[in-house]
Amino acid sequence: MKVRKAVIAVAGWGIRFLPITKAQPKEMLPLVDKPLIQYSVEEAINSGIEQVILVTALGKRAIEDYFDRSFELEYVLERKGETKRLQEMRELSDLVNVCYIRQKEQLGLGHAILTAKDIIGEEPFAVLLPDDIVDSKVPVLKQMIKVYEQYKTNIVAVERIDRQDTTKYGIIEPKKISGHMYQVLSLTEKPEPSQAPSNLGVVGRYILVPQIFDVLEVTPPGKNQEIQLTDALQLLIKRQAILAYEFEGVRYDTGTPLGWLKATMAFALKRPDIGQELREYLRQLL
Ligand code: UTP
Repeated sequence: MKVRKAVIAVAGWGIRFLPITKAQPKEMLPLVDKPLIQYSVEEAINSGIEQVILVTALGKRAIEDYFDRSFELEYVLERKGETKRLQEMRELSDLVNVCYIRQKEQLGLGHAILTAKDIIGEEPFAVLLPDDIVDSKVPVLKQMIKVYEQYKTNIVAVERIDRQDTTKYGIIEPKKISGHMYQVLSLTEKPEPSQAPSNLGVVGRYILVPQIFDVLEVTPPGKNQEIQLTDALQLLIKRQAILAYEFEGVRYDTGTPLGWLKATMAFALKRPDIGQELREYLRQLL
């Protein structure tokens, strides 16, 4: 069966990005002039996804407004003769078929995905976490869907990380299959470097089969008292294969101020309209 649906989890508190996240969803921070969430939504669309399910929570209304149509704004732009911007705004609201679910209590990423169970039904689906933004020729999700079509089982995206950073990732115990592919023998959420079975960290892209929901329903709270997707995947391994795919592309973790700044710089420097001037400014600054 084709991967048609994608869940994008945006219900977290964004604690590493306080104080701004007290009143502003982290996912609406811009990379230059486009909010982070749009990169994930566009990646999903460019990978062939037909329906995007956004799991939101209290304080995330700006995201819904962003993808909605604004007749008032369109009217103003039309009157001002801003034809190009008007066209852009219309395209944005026509971008994709999005539906929203509220995670009423932020009980963890695993729980957030479980709230999408009825909308997903009995089909494989993708999960994207918008903190992870990947600059790549082929969208990461598209790379993964290709792999899924070959293996027809759960796929997690992995990246080689610095040993001292294992406490920030789910870490896999790998068994190499071929160039970019591994079988996952076990998964551990945020282990100490000395306990980590490898330096292959799971990043925020998954393709999952619907059996994950049965497992999520019985997964007890783990690290930080949250229902962790990593713990559910570890339980799923006993029933079903999980493969790890080392994707092609440069990943940015925009979930912290420094990671977000790095991504902002990298994306801005590539922009033809502002890149050159920014490069000169940075040179002066240094
Ligand atoms: P994180 O654990 O990184 O949390 O969530 P966070 O809120 O984004 O950021 P910090 O750690 O507090 O700074 C990983 C992903 O899971 C989603 C988040 O929105 C993020 O995309 N999530 C997390 C939920 O949707 N619901 C939850 O209850 C927890």
